[in-house]
Order: sequence, then structure tokens, then C-alpha cells
Amino acid sequence: MLLENKVALITGSGRGIGREIALKMASEGASIVIADIDEKTMAEALAEVQAKGVKAMSVKMDISDNAGVKEAVDKILAEFGRIDILVNNAAIFRQAPFLEMTLQQWQQTCDINLTGLYNVTSAVAPCMVANGKGAIISIASVDAFQGCLNYSHYAMTKAGVVGLSRTLAQELGPHNVRVNAIAPGIMLTEMTRDRVEANKEAYLARVPIGRIGVPEDIANAALFLASDLASYITGQVIHVNGGMYFG
Ligand SMILES: NC(=O)c1ccc[n+]([C@@H]2O[C@H](COP(=O)([O-])OP(=O)(O)OC[C@H]3O[C@@H](n4cnc5c(N)ncnc54)[C@H](O)[C@@H]3O)[C@@H](O)[C@H]2O)c1
Repeated sequence: MLLENKVALITGSGRGIGREIALKMASEGASIVIADIDEKTMAEALAEVQAKGVKAMSVKMDISDNAGVKEAVDKILAEFGRIDILVNNAAIFRQAPFLEMTLQQWQQTCDINLTGLYNVTSAVAPCMVANGKGAIISIASVDAFQGCLNYSHYAMTKAGVVGLSRTLAQELGPHNVRVNAIAPGIMLTEMTRDRVEANKEAYLARVPIGRIGVPEDIANAALFLASDLASYITGQVIHVNGGMYFG
């Protein structure tokens, strides 16, 4: 088991890629914290993780709420005593062509996708530093590297995830805390289902491996980065995209 005796907090793990990461890490023996803004999906994910026989809890968390995140992290520390693995996965993806975008739309995406990362990481990193170890994995996107038509705010936040991860790798490395990012390509989840189904042939033509990605593809990379197999890997972006973009 790759993650025995580790505690993993995964944001946005009620559904999609986050839920799959939680299940994968549970399969490798980690204790799991399901964190999401949506209580219904969170309860379903918690039940699935518990069925794997590991310790698990759920905490409702809006990652854009700084005080609420701190309270949630305190609850986790009261229950588990530490957090060894943080997966910054929660994000939103809302269409807004730049010429029509309102400041409110721009800010909402920044508040969740970027400031959300600050809120959660700044609440969790001190406990990793105190323990002298930790692994932080943040989910970026291929869109950070190639842009995303009609989602400029989203692409901008995902580029920010990369810059933050590379910088934190330098600041937290001396404390034995590794910080990496994963850049998924086109994955089939509820976030992208309509878009993927409407453009399937065009997408497939761009993916040398010849299939649309599934959440498990990302979960496998997250498991590797969280485990001691990656103990000399920090400040990196792993592109998991079937060869669509060789960045
Ligand atoms: N699906 C793709 O094709 C794709 C591609 C590249 C990157 N990504 C990234 O992967 C990650 C997961 O995406 P997904 O496809 O599973 O999306 P999803 O929409 O299926 O899941 C996102 C989860 O985050 C939660 N969430 C949203 N706002 C939140 C908030 N303020 N606080 C806490 N939780 C919140 C949602 O409730 C949901 O459970 C995201 O960071 C996304 O940007 C996805």
C-alpha cells in the first residue's frame, strides 16, 4: 500500500476527478477527508470511500471562504491530528467570452480557482511544515498552456496554479513538503460532459492516444505524486492528456 498511515484532504471530492482521487488514495490505505461545497455528493463520496475500509470524514468547505476553510481545517486536525497530502482540486469552469465578461464573472472564477488555493494551502501548509513532511498536488489544466476559447478567466487561473506550485516548491522544499501540479487534458466529467459530447470527434482528432480521458487517469498521477515514489519530484507539472499537448 503506497499511502498507509497518511491523511489526505481532497477539495472538490464530492464528484468527478476529486472523488476518483479520494477513492484511489483510499485503495492505497490513506485516511481520507472529503471536502466539498455540495453536501449531497459529499455524502455519496464519503460512503464510497468508507466502503474501502479506511478512516474517512467529510467537511463542508467553500474554498473561497477564508474563515470557513480555517474552521474546516481545524475540524480535520481535531479528528486526524495531521494532514500529509493536500489535493487542490475544486474549481469552476463557466463560459464567458472575454468581450461579454462581467467583473463579477471574472472575480468569481478568481475567488474559487485562485484565492481558493491560497485559502486551503495557507491553512494546511503550516501543519505540514510542523510535521516536517507533506505533499501538495494542485489540479491545473492543459488550458494554462494553450488557452481556452471563451474561458479566459479559467485559463488564467490555471496558469496561476502552475506559478503558485513552482514557487511553493521552492519555499516549502526545505521543510520536506513537495508541491506539484497535474495538467489534465480533455476529461469526461460533469464539468465538461456537454462540451465533450458536442465536440467529441474534433477532440479525439487532437489526442494521439485516441480516447477522451477519465478521472482515473488523473487519480493515478495524483497517487504517484502523493506517494514516496515521487520523493525527489517537486515543482513539476505532469501533463495527463493522451499526448494532446506536449508541454
Ligand atoms: N474535466 C476536465 O476535462 C478537466 C480538464 C482540465 C482540468 N480539470 C480540473 O480538474 C478539477 C476537477 O474537475 P472535474 O471535472 O472533476 O469538475 P467537477 O465540476 O465535476 O467537480 C468539481 C467539484 O468541485 C466542487 N466545488 C466547486 N466549487 C467549490 C467551492 N467553492 N468549494 C468547494 N468545492 C467546490 C464541486 O461541488 C464539485 O464537486 C478542476 O480543478 C478542473 O478545473 C478538469
